[in-house]
Amino acid sequence: MNQKAPEYHEQVYQPEADTYLLLSSVKNEIRNGDMVLEVGTGSGIIAQACSERARCVATDVNPHACRMAHGMGVEVVRTDLYAGLKGPFDLIIFNPPYLPTAENERIDDWLEYALDGGMDGRAVIHQFASGLHRILHPYGRVLLLVSSLTGIQETRELFAEEGFLSFIVSEKTTEGERLVVFRITHDLCSLRG
Ligand SMILES: C[S@@+](CC[C@H](N)C(=O)[O-])C[C@H]1O[C@@H](n2cnc3c(N)ncnc32)[C@H](O)[C@@H]1O
Repeated sequence: MNQKAPEYHEQVYQPEADTYLLLSSVKNEIRNGDMVLEVGTGSGIIAQACSERARCVATDVNPHACRMAHGMGVEVVRTDLYAGLKGPFDLIIFNPPYLPTAENERIDDWLEYALDGGMDGRAVIHQFASGLHRILHPYGRVLLLVSSLTGIQETRELFAEEGFLSFIVSEKTTEGERLVVFRITHDLCSLRG
């Protein structure tokens, strides 16, 4: 039976170059039997691909995104980042809202949650990093999409301050923007210290 193409909701982030770059890194990284979490699933296409290989749970704050991902067969929870989830997860995936956005540039709709990264573009990434030790398995991996607009080196330093190591595993330059995927793991030396 042909799977029905999802109907896009105007308030849900449509897959873009960043989505597809992250998706290809996920396909290289995922292992059979992984317990996977996708934070901010949007349309659900990444979580759906993961579900073919592993047990996958996804979250989003946007109710329209949750409905759409659920329609794609994704197990989805409406929550802030990973609040209320226990873990530990072997693989955590996040394409965060990363555009630097000033207070007076904000638009009051659900799509804003897909784009608005606060003043420096790293506000949501910072929140994401600060609770990560609780839910990431000691040998777990995170795949995080970041843009040059967000600050690639600054993001690496942010994770280092929280006790994580990050390496770029894939990248793409689009018009005026460099997109990278970070593979992030616990810095086991800093955990021991
Ligand atoms: C750039 S979009 C990425 C969507 C999808 N993963 C993709 O790659 O196409 C970011 C997603 O994160 C969600 N999001 C933003 N802040 C969030 C938060 N605090 N908790 C959960 N989801 C959040 C947004 O609603 C949006 O769906």
